[in-house]
Amino acid sequence: MSSPDSSTSKPRVLLFGAGSIGTVYLYLLSKVATVTAVCRSNYDVVKEKGFIINSAIFGDDIHFQPAVVRNCTEAATSSSEPFDYIVVCSKVFPNTIPDIIKPAVTPNHTTIVLIQNGIGIEDEYVEAFPTNPIISTVVYMPVAQRPAGVITHGDIELLEVGNYPSTSNSPQAANFTKLIESAGGTAKLYDDIQFKRWFKVILNVAWNPVCALSLSTDVDFMLSSPNATDFVLDVMLEVADVAAAYGHQFSKEDVQFQLDRAKVRIQSKKGIEPSMLQDVKEGRKMEVEAIVGNVLKKAKAKGVRCDRVATIYFLANALDAHVNPRDS
Ligand SMILES: NC(=O)c1ccc[n+]([C@@H]2O[C@H](COP(=O)([O-])OP(=O)(O)OC[C@H]3O[C@@H](n4cnc5c(N)ncnc54)[C@H](OP(=O)(O)O)[C@@H]3O)[C@@H](O)[C@H]2O)c1
Ligand SMILES: *[C@@H]1O[C@H](CO)[C@@H](O)[C@H](O)[C@H]1NC(C)=O
Ligand SMILES: *[C@@H]1O[C@H](CO)[C@@H](O)[C@H](O)[C@H]1NC(C)=O
Ligand SMILES: *[C@@H]1O[C@H](CO)[C@@H](O)[C@H](O)[C@H]1NC(C)=O
Ligand SMILES: *[C@@H]1O[C@H](CO)[C@@H](O)[C@H](O)[C@H]1NC(C)=O
Repeated sequence: MSSPDSSTSKPRVLLFGAGSIGTVYLYLLSKVATVTAVCRSNYDVVKEKGFIINSAIFGDDIHFQPAVVRNCTEAATSSSEPFDYIVVCSKVFPNTIPDIIKPAVTPNHTTIVLIQNGIGIEDEYVEAFPTNPIISTVVYMPVAQRPAGVITHGDIELLEVGNYPSTSNSPQAANFTKLIESAGGTAKLYDDIQFKRWFKVILNVAWNPVCALSLSTDVDFMLSSPNATDFVLDVMLEVADVAAAYGHQFSKEDVQFQLDRAKVRIQSKKGIEPSMLQDVKEGRKMEVEAIVGNVLKKAKAKGVRCDRVATIYFLANALDAHVNPRDS
């Protein structure tokens, strides 16, 4: 922007996907930026009463009232200046979002920030928005929205940030990292965010479908038969083999470290419900393609065998289709 006061004015942020994760980041960003949320199912309640956030880190009963719009067209027309950032926190369903957010993305200007799970999720944005900087992130933050407008956040909060592609020398990843930190969040900048994405997807490929398919928390699954934990480890090791084929090496100890995040909770029997288990219970669509399908595609492309991942992919897809019947 070239207006004389642009250096002192706050960045303008649009949130697409005002659910669990998105609302916490919008709340943080509201301290340092001008924020607007695109709301869908929670539009009426948020427009009227705002969000309530109960967070083990940021505090309880926080009332937060951002500007809300129904869609990106309304966002664009209600704003006289372009958005500096559009933060995408919807669930990942491939090839749907770029068209939907397009009205709010100014070419050569708006930075697109993806705060979402999965692997290989960025390319459709590069294709749709070739002149816009793209930031890829990995988030560790247990949070749920229930009922609409009420957000419950646990005691972990970490955003890992990098440019996409990793070879890009755009200043935006560093800039966004600083922005989150200035808002009181925890953000870390990485030259190669894909390494971090693979490390996280090792967890997600294993725990999400396994818990959804077995209707079990992670701890309940591990306690369900003597070798259940070994099975989870074997799934994780298959994902690590795929990561290695793409130049991201994880040792058996690294993988064990990811598994131990759940194993340490066996003693207390405090299992967690991964998002796909929550989705099945609530009749929502699961991120099967972004998390499991894309790993399998990448495995195939490099000739890496992963029979366990393939098995849970087909089972999870069938479960998803059963819970959410598809057209045609
Ligand atoms: N929640 C966690 O603990 C957690 C932790 C780490 C990573 N993640 C990842 O973070 C991402 C976001 O997850 P989440 O748990 O925050 O999901 P979520 O609670 O379901 O929030 C997603 C939001 O996006 C909205 N949305 C989707 N499509 C839309 C559209 N076309 N127009 C307007 N709004 C739309 C949804 O609206 P509706 O209500 O109308 O559907 C919902 O409010 C996922 O990739 C997830 O895997 C989540
Ligand atoms: C966007 O929301 C407005 C209301 O603010 C509505 O009139 C319009 O039809 C919506 N557009 C789309 C594409 O849904
Ligand atoms: C974006 O910027 C490039 C170079 O900076 C320029 O060539 C191009 O015309 C611009 N595109 C748009 C849509 O403004
Ligand atoms: C980086 O962020 C600051 C503060 O938000 C902003 O003033 C500056 O223009 C940003 N830099 C770029 C390259 O966008
Ligand atoms: C369970 O693990 C033990 C120890 O590795 C092994 O001897 C046994 O055959 C396994 N059982 C099954 C059913 O996989």
